Amino acid sequence: MRGLLMSLTVIRGAIGFVLQVGMSKKTYNPQEAIIIKRDGRELSKKAIEHYVQGVVDGVVSDAQIAAFAMAVCLRGMTVQERTDFTLAMAKNSEHQDWLRLNLDGPLLDKHSTGGVGDKVSFIVAAVLAACGCFVPMISGRTLGHTGGTLDKLESLPGYDVHTDAVQVEKVLAQTGLVIIGASEQLVPADRRIYDVRDRTATVKSLDLITCSILSKKLAEDLDGLVLDVKYGSGAFFSDSHEAMALAQSMVQVANHAGLQTHAILSDMNSVLGHTAGNWLELVEALDVMTAGVGEPRLTKVCEALVSEALQLSELAHSPGVAEQMFTDALQSGRAAECFAQMVAGLGGPKDLLKTYKKNKTMNAPVVRDILAPADGYISAIDVTKLGWALSRIGCGRANPEGRIDHRVGLTHAQPCGTKVTVGQTILARIHAASESDANYVAQAFDQNVKISPDPPKGLPLVQVCRF
Ligand code: URA
Repeated sequence: MRGLLMSLTVIRGAIGFVLQVGMSKKTYNPQEAIIIKRDGRELSKKAIEHYVQGVVDGVVSDAQIAAFAMAVCLRGMTVQERTDFTLAMAKNSEHQDWLRLNLDGPLLDKHSTGGVGDKVSFIVAAVLAACGCFVPMISGRTLGHTGGTLDKLESLPGYDVHTDAVQVEKVLAQTGLVIIGASEQLVPADRRIYDVRDRTATVKSLDLITCSILSKKLAEDLDGLVLDVKYGSGAFFSDSHEAMALAQSMVQVANHAGLQTHAILSDMNSVLGHTAGNWLELVEALDVMTAGVGEPRLTKVCEALVSEALQLSELAHSPGVAEQMFTDALQSGRAAECFAQMVAGLGGPKDLLKTYKKNKTMNAPVVRDILAPADGYISAIDVTKLGWALSRIGCGRANPEGRIDHRVGLTHAQPCGTKVTVGQTILARIHAASESDANYVAQAFDQNVKISPDPPKGLPLVQVCRF
């Protein structure tokens, strides 16, 4: 028996050696990478490159992607494996060559792990552009209970998230920002792997999330990246320690891979800002850009991200200078102007800043206030459940082909900690397509917003991560 076990070990080692060293497309057997991960061992750079190439070429089947992803979920990856996996995916990608444009400023981007009411991208990209940066932001659509930047932008008639490359380059060079969708060729390995993960309960993995997000950012040849990693009842990671571990993983891997990256951790136990929903969020972001101030939590998250971006790109040498630049860009109206020019350049309205407040076509047929059911403080909100309720009435999609209703959502949403008076304080104002949809969201508030006699104790809204 012992002899048999030894022989098996030798054979397994030999197979592993051959695969770790590398082999041709025809002889490549993806099972070995799965076995190595299943057994909790570390994959070599070569083995990872072969596996990723196999995913791109179709040599690795969906079942083998699922098995690999589950093995990673259960066994994890080392920082070196994550870096190698990220780089291998980023290398297998086509993207627009921003470097060729010889832009006169740093090329920066921001990524958020997603939440409800998260319109930070619009404000941060516009402020950075106004500060002399160039922000080619590749954004996503609604995912689960969270909103999607592209869906929000598509509430602007004519805005084309897939505008042709020449126009995108022109708009980036002229306005300092573009917010667009990923092309089919951007990191095809991630596209395939993500699709399988979505169907096999393997999305929630610190390792795979790190590789997936960063591969797309690395493929863009950026000078720097800022990450907004959210924790709380509306985030993918509700626990702040898990979110911090994700932030650390992403910063470590990005920096190992040569992309300077800073991260903040931010609270997602409340809707961010006062609105949730596509058009409603865009209006709130435009209000912040035109008025120069906004709901304090929203403004604070934007300021922290801009501050980190300006410091990492050395446009500001202290948090104080960066914060002043943030305020000036908003209050001078420069950020709003950059954003409006970008919208016009990508096919949207030409006179956005003058017209957005007057747009009656975006008024939802039913508008209803939800009043506080008791005296006290908002002590807890299940933001994920509220997000799902909003998604169901048209803020999101039930399936990839589902239709978004850009008009619907919330305004006047109040965060945890707000003191409320029964029957008087508005917890939120629902904008819905029908009375039954409004009832549905009202019921979600009833079930998922807790009022207590004492204010809740929470973590700070924003923590700048230093690893
Ligand atoms: N967003 C991504 O792009 N990838 C993930 O794995 C999770 C969120």
